[in-house]
Amino acid sequence: MDEYILAIESSCDETAASVVKNGREVLSNVISSQIALHTLYGGVVPEIASRKHVEKINPVIEMALKEAEVTWDDLSAIGVTYGPGLVGALLVGVAEAKAIAYARKLPLIGVHHIEGHIAANYIEHPDLEPPFLCEVISGGHTHLVIVRDYGEFEILGRTRDDAAGEAFDKVARAIGLGYPGGPKIDKAAKEGNPEALSFPRTHITQAGRNTLTYARGSQETGPYDFSFSGLKSAVLNYLNKCQMTGESWDQADVAASFQAAVVDTLVGNAMRAAEDRGADRLALAGGVASNSALRSAMQQACSRRGIKLYVPSPIYCTDNAAMIGVAAWHEWKKGNVSGWDLNAVPNLKLGER
Ligand code: KG4
Ligand code: ZN
Repeated sequence: MDEYILAIESSCDETAASVVKNGREVLSNVISSQIALHTLYGGVVPEIASRKHVEKINPVIEMALKEAEVTWDDLSAIGVTYGPGLVGALLVGVAEAKAIAYARKLPLIGVHHIEGHIAANYIEHPDLEPPFLCEVISGGHTHLVIVRDYGEFEILGRTRDDAAGEAFDKVARAIGLGYPGGPKIDKAAKEGNPEALSFPRTHITQAGRNTLTYARGSQETGPYDFSFSGLKSAVLNYLNKCQMTGESWDQADVAASFQAAVVDTLVGNAMRAAEDRGADRLALAGGVASNSALRSAMQQACSRRGIKLYVPSPIYCTDNAAMIGVAAWHEWKKGNVSGWDLNAVPNLKLGER
């Protein structure tokens, strides 16, 4: 019998709902974005995000059911992101999912947001099955992991400071492009010269020390860790220097040169891990995976090494509920059903339940 999961995602600034059939087929993927609202403030305002989720969540779910042409009676389970993310935003989705699951007597499945991003790769690539290497690059996370099995990860590296998307957002703000930074830098960089300015590519060595910038953060060290704060500081220093000396700077060149440094770091780390671990398949996940320069540089690097690259379509890279539905299905099949005490966990770590 066919199984239909209604999935809900509200961890940040998108209110999203989706119906996924049998774990891979997306029947609907409704996303109500709050971007225009938060643009006014130059970034996501958590309380405004929560209030908007409360307002939008029921219409978004209704639309997801309608587009999928399924009724409440067709649903087999409810999946929901319960962390990591903004606590007030997560609570809206979790409370909604619980209410529906309780009223309809359906299994409730709490999903890790990053596990959802990784699962986005299964939607359009039926041949992709674990194990594979995956680089997760979002606004809050930068992880290099081996996906051992559905929902099971070996973490090879993580960021010591800023996430890749966070660096995009901060630099975009500094050069006057505003929020959301990633897509704006991506667009501006197309008009700029990536070699105009030489910004640092931070490489963290095995010993846990990086060669170019000071890395703060946890005591844990990983040979494939990332650090983007030195790069962000280098851009800010360059802008300050120009301001102090009255020198002019070119927005597109700064965007392109900054982006090139991020891309080199992301490609370099992934290729090093792929070679060391003998990986022949690499998947990208998260909002930054929709970056056009990264997608083409990673494809080139993979082709040279005979690695097959998997990248979700941009709509499945940024936050959406379809990816949560896919991850929920796999968790459900493994028997991981949540209790009625499911709560929002804003700093949920990857691999934790
Ligand atoms: O995965 P996501 O939608 O949300 C989180 O889980 O954080 O990622 C959002 C991040 C933001 O930092 C945004 O600037 C970045 O992804 N992003 C991009 C692009 N589109 C979104 N970064 C670079 N290039 C893009 N085209
Ligand atoms: Zn996300």
